[in-house]
Amino acid sequence: MIRFENVGLRYDMGPEILRDLTFEIRNQSFQFLTGPSGAGKTSLLRMLFLALKPTRGLITILGRDASTLKRTELPAIRRRIGVVFQDFRLLDHLTTYENVALPLRVRGREEDSYRRDVVDLIKWVGLGERMDASPVVLSGGEKQRAAIARALIDQPDILLADEPTGNVDPPLARRLLRLFMELNRTGTAVVIATHDLALMDQVEARRLVLGNGRLEIYD
Ligand SMILES: Nc1ncnc2c1ncn2[C@@H]1O[C@H](COP(=O)(O)OP(=O)(O)O)[C@@H](O)[C@H]1O
Ligand SMILES: [Mg+2]
Repeated sequence: MIRFENVGLRYDMGPEILRDLTFEIRNQSFQFLTGPSGAGKTSLLRMLFLALKPTRGLITILGRDASTLKRTELPAIRRRIGVVFQDFRLLDHLTTYENVALPLRVRGREEDSYRRDVVDLIKWVGLGERMDASPVVLSGGEKQRAAIARALIDQPDILLADEPTGNVDPPLARRLLRLFMELNRTGTAVVIATHDLALMDQVEARRLVLGNGRLEIYD
């Protein structure tokens, strides 16, 4: 689904922080992206999401060379990629329901066509009671789940989550992990960036490990 070949990345005139990355994220696969803080996990996710261009190498996404995509083609491709940002990026002046529905509203969908789906998804992530609450009054774990629901509402082919258990206690982290695995079973490819070893030890899954700018893969 997404393929990197000899990808390198540097910011401005700085050193190359990621070097010779060659790997593939396959349809319906599940993997952790790990490595110490500063290793480049967030930068790699941003390249997967086409929010950041590599300084060298080739990224192929859904069969297309990412460097040749036109600006007008990007939104359609990005819609197939759900992203849960580390800082959630929820809008405080909207309710949970409105935040989750936002990607559909922005696309011009009629509310009648999606209201049921939004409500069901919010219940699935366990926020049924918080439907009309503002993110301002949600706990860290509740915001995390609202952000996950918003990333999933447009049924992406791949979900990228940046440190999704960074702000929650261990029981909730396990619940979130189960949620991601359930999502994966329904056919969505999942990439979870994390440096939480205890979390990764709970499931046998592929690991993409970043260190010293390079990637090692443990299938
Ligand atoms: N926008 C940026 N400009 C310059 N350097 C950056 C930028 N974002 C990240 N970096 C640097 O790139 C390296 C990798 O950062 P990051 O991708 O955030 O790692 P991680 O998510 O694994 O903690 C770090 O050295 C960081 O300081
Ligand atoms: Mg990061």
